[in-house]
Amino acid sequence: MTSTPSSTLLAAIQSKSARAGVIGLGYVGLPLAMTMARAGYCVTGFDIDPTKMVAIEAGKSYIEAVPDHILAGETAAGRFSATTDFAQLRDCDVIAICVPTPLTHHRDPDLSYVEKTCEKIAETLRPGQLIVLESTTYPGTTDEVMKPILEKSGLRSGEDFFIGYSPEREDPGNREFETSTIPKIVAGDGEAATEMMQAFYGSVVKTVVPVASTATAEAVKLTENIFRAVNIALVNELKVVYEAMGIDVWDVIDAAKTKPFGYMPFYPGPGLGGHCIPIDPFYLTWKSREYDQPTRFIELAGEINTAMPRHVITRLAEALDIKAGKALSRSKILILGLAYKKNVPDIRESPSLKLMEIILERGGDFDYCDPFVPEIPQTREYGHLRGRRSIGWSEADIRSYDAVLVATDHDDVDYQALADWSSLVIDTRNVFARRNISADHIVKA
Ligand SMILES: NC(=O)c1ccc[n+]([C@@H]2O[C@H](COP(=O)([O-])OP(=O)(O)OC[C@H]3O[C@@H](n4cnc5c(N)ncnc54)[C@H](O)[C@@H]3O)[C@@H](O)[C@H]2O)c1
Repeated sequence: MTSTPSSTLLAAIQSKSARAGVIGLGYVGLPLAMTMARAGYCVTGFDIDPTKMVAIEAGKSYIEAVPDHILAGETAAGRFSATTDFAQLRDCDVIAICVPTPLTHHRDPDLSYVEKTCEKIAETLRPGQLIVLESTTYPGTTDEVMKPILEKSGLRSGEDFFIGYSPEREDPGNREFETSTIPKIVAGDGEAATEMMQAFYGSVVKTVVPVASTATAEAVKLTENIFRAVNIALVNELKVVYEAMGIDVWDVIDAAKTKPFGYMPFYPGPGLGGHCIPIDPFYLTWKSREYDQPTRFIELAGEINTAMPRHVITRLAEALDIKAGKALSRSKILILGLAYKKNVPDIRESPSLKLMEIILERGGDFDYCDPFVPEIPQTREYGHLRGRRSIGWSEADIRSYDAVLVATDHDDVDYQALADWSSLVIDTRNVFARRNISADHIVKA
């Protein structure tokens, strides 16, 4: 039987002699590279950030989900190496793209990272390679953006090389699921590509879920995140309404979730954070304009979630006024938690940054305390907050603030001590009630 690009690749996947490449070694790419290596493939990681190369060479992981010993073990076993030399892409049989897909300043999709990466791949593209986009994006990206760039090489998708889309469902900090146990959606550009993806990912993760087209796979990822954004907006709205009625939304949710069917709990908070939920829905909003289709639900959810930090600060100002007779403009606030969610060091789009900005805007001052984030790094929107450092954990320090605003409910915090040492606490996460700590000076917001 004569070998074709697809039969050669399939045989290499089946024998695990295929070399995998992962481009973008961040929250998604590094755990994925480790999962591929642990499945028995030799993996090359590519990134433009030289500091990541230094860390990897030293066996030091910068991603919580990847322990140092796993990284060092896979490197020592020769199954993983990392490089900034993109010429080595030529040696890879399967390439997964995990680069950022942020929004521009005008909140439009910024596909420049994906485009640049595809241009790099095109420089060394050869027959028999499978290229999979894993970055979150709008339906049509694989077909309309990735494929034309790769085909500029003169090679054809589905004949010479293969492409597909497989969204990441990584959930940093989740102790129940990791990359290999989260079912993986796959779709190729054509049957051969889908078959190749099923073979490859089927040997790396427990469950593979093939869908009809790359656009369907892209839509699956956006749907999952829009579902979260909309439901979080709903409970945030209910929180404000119930607050006005003197009803505790957390009690309502706890009771509602005892219904064994037809209800799924979502929780309010100080605003949306993280790299996905505040951003991804707007990839669909943007694309839907091309089809003259409104996305009112998504826009409204964005509006409600964006209003949450201001709502929390209004509650803080009211509580300061009523309980301490003090104006926010003359107060110093301790913000507990800078990370966007508990037990992780990730501050991307964190509502804490917005809370800090609003406090300053209203003439108040703040410090923050977060064991995971010792210093505020450079961020695109909050450059003026850069360099502020987390205070340590001491009774004297905590007693010196007019109020403590709990923005992130990290587990490793002594909430009883915090309640004892503070004169006013604003709790946006219901963290005190969950620990059966209640007092007049603890206000939910
Ligand atoms: N973080 C999550 O929990 C999560 C979950 C699901 C999906 N996603 C999606 O996965 C994608 C990656 O997200 P992430 O959180 O891993 O981002 P990240 O910022 O943690 O990592 C991206 C990496 O890509 C590198 N990079 C940037 N440009 C590059 C280029 N041209 N070539 C090579 N490397 C480059 C960066 O240096 C960085 O190391 C995004 O589309 C995101 O929406 C993220």
